[in-house]
Amino acid sequence: MEKKQYTVTAALPYANGPLHLGHVAGVYLPADIFVRFLRHKEHDVAFISGSDEHGAAITLRAKKEGISPQEIVDKYHDIIGNAFKKFDIKFDIFHRTTAETHKETAQDFFKVLDKKGAFTQKTTEQYYDQDHEQFLADRYISGECPKCGYAEAYGDQCEKCGSALSPTDLINPVSTLSGKTPVLRETSHWFLPMERHEDWLREWIKEGTLDGVQQHDPKKWRNQVNGQCLSWIDGGLHPRAMTRDLDWGIPVPVEGADGKVLYVWLDAPIGYISATKDWAKSVGKDWKDYWTGDRKLVHFIGKDNIVFHAVIFPILLKEHGEFILPDNVPASEFLNLEGAKFSTSRNWAVWLHEYLERHPEKVDELKYTLTSIAPESKDSEFTWLDFQSRVNNELADVLGNFVNRALVLNNKYYDGAVPTLGELTAEDQKVIDAIKEIPAKVEELLYNYKIREAQGEVMGLARIGNRYLAETEPWKVVKTDPKRVETILHIALQITANLAILFDPFIPATAAKMRNFLNMETFNWAQAGSINLLSARTKTNPPSILFQKIDDEFVENEKAILIASQKDNESAKEAEAEEEEKPTAPQKEDIEFDEFLKIDIRVGKILSAKKVKKADKLLELLVDTGLDQRTIVSGIAEQFDIEEIVGKKVSVLMNLPPRKLRGVVSNGMILMAEDKLGNLSFIAPGEGMEVGAEIR
Ligand code: 2FM
Ligand code: ZN
Repeated sequence: MEKKQYTVTAALPYANGPLHLGHVAGVYLPADIFVRFLRHKEHDVAFISGSDEHGAAITLRAKKEGISPQEIVDKYHDIIGNAFKKFDIKFDIFHRTTAETHKETAQDFFKVLDKKGAFTQKTTEQYYDQDHEQFLADRYISGECPKCGYAEAYGDQCEKCGSALSPTDLINPVSTLSGKTPVLRETSHWFLPMERHEDWLREWIKEGTLDGVQQHDPKKWRNQVNGQCLSWIDGGLHPRAMTRDLDWGIPVPVEGADGKVLYVWLDAPIGYISATKDWAKSVGKDWKDYWTGDRKLVHFIGKDNIVFHAVIFPILLKEHGEFILPDNVPASEFLNLEGAKFSTSRNWAVWLHEYLERHPEKVDELKYTLTSIAPESKDSEFTWLDFQSRVNNELADVLGNFVNRALVLNNKYYDGAVPTLGELTAEDQKVIDAIKEIPAKVEELLYNYKIREAQGEVMGLARIGNRYLAETEPWKVVKTDPKRVETILHIALQITANLAILFDPFIPATAAKMRNFLNMETFNWAQAGSINLLSARTKTNPPSILFQKIDDEFVENEKAILIASQKDNESAKEAEAEEEEKPTAPQKEDIEFDEFLKIDIRVGKILSAKKVKKADKLLELLVDTGLDQRTIVSGIAEQFDIEEIVGKKVSVLMNLPPRKLRGVVSNGMILMAEDKLGNLSFIAPGEGMEVGAEIR
């Protein structure tokens, strides 16, 4: 039996930059869907997030932008918070770790632990930058990860393998301030002796028990979460510093700690508690109810945050003694973008706030696509072509088409009044069985954090509806058997009503529009699965189009934006880094000489050129090949002006079969050289070479 109450958190994003689609798909959207579902199931839920505003991630960004840390966090807290609002991610509160309540909460927490003897105070040697005269905490230091070899791991964490690190773990450490090798210097800090906690942690993660009492179901935890934690624990836990020498953060609230602040990974998760306090106060509730007793605490995070939420924060919570431990930590894998990792430094990203500025009307399209590809158990990829195909082939052609047909036909035949259900055929019965079965499947999947599959089940019902209308063909049957059509449309409308409930957590704006079409002012999730959601003769409204199709131009534009902004922001150093990541392509497999002889390449001359309609990249060229004058379509429009290429001699691959590109038949190909950044150049024959000369 499910517990009735939940506190759901979504990782506090660093307020040092905007959010990209990878963050949204992995953390915020699944959390939001889960919470909407819980509310429909009438669980009492608090949905908590906020911005993470301390630590070296912020001060480094401030340096880079030449403004103060406070200005940085103000700026990005607003950008991130507004994007969440526009994208309709409905937190109960989007808090900040620079809030006064948080300072008090984090300091109290530290003092409680300090009094209980949860820390040890030690003087150790830490890296120090002599040029900048400061100790190097966390992101001020980078080097090779001792676990996976990644060359640019930070002093607190390797973002590639997710390991939590200490600066002295890094191989070949470098100061990110001066770029020089730092020296070791003595400083004193408060440490969390994590090794004391190995035994209970192992039991709690493996078995879900604490002192033999069941706390959670370990089978419900994702493999990557259990796996990462256990391998970390099995590798042996070590004392971890919980304070830092930094001038931005929450002052350590004990004597002898002048100039020291709380470690950001101690401060940030406590931010969930502070946020709950301020939210509870604003709605007249007791925050303690949300952190104690018979309640499930669930942390939605990305995989690079696993050990902080499933090992370190639980240690802190248990040491404190008053709080529940997480029931689950649904961590996502990473989302890639058009074949490469999201990268802030190379600006290889689709930023949520920018997408929403360009397409404020396409919120549900993006929600649906991101959930369809959510990286729940393995890395996945976002491409604009896939976005187009999901919107056109699934949202528009399946869901939109079905809903539109059902309502338009109902208007046409019955003036919008829901017809009565008559005698059922085997086909009808099959569809009715599906309506009854799907809600339970969706619920089971959602309770188990399988949000992507749950959405797939709901879309499955729309497919069933679409197929049902295609197969029963009411528009034909109406001429011979109007009674039968009443039953068909009755069932189709009941499916629509079920979809208007079940899609609500996933694409809420669309679900609301559908309910509007059906005059379902109120709805109750518990009614999903019923075939009596609409009583006969209820009036439905004429529908509007639910989803506009995405044309090729949209895709080309989005890709062009991505590529252009990447180049704009590329510093020489970053370009170098990229080259390291994309090595020169290896030589292809050998071919027979005879095969090579089959290739017919000749010198051609471009006689004229024009743009191909609705295709930003394509030019339609008329080429003199010596043999004939032929049309060749070439994808070079973004890099060459027409004036610049007319009259140019080029290399033409002659004997390719004709191919239709955007309605234009292309007979052959202009050969180009392309470098790693996608720059193109013609393979130009020498000046005097005549048209038609063969290239061998
Ligand atoms: O990785 C990050 O973006 C961190 N700011 C997440 C913090 S989650 C929590 F602990 F606050
Ligand atoms: Zn690593």
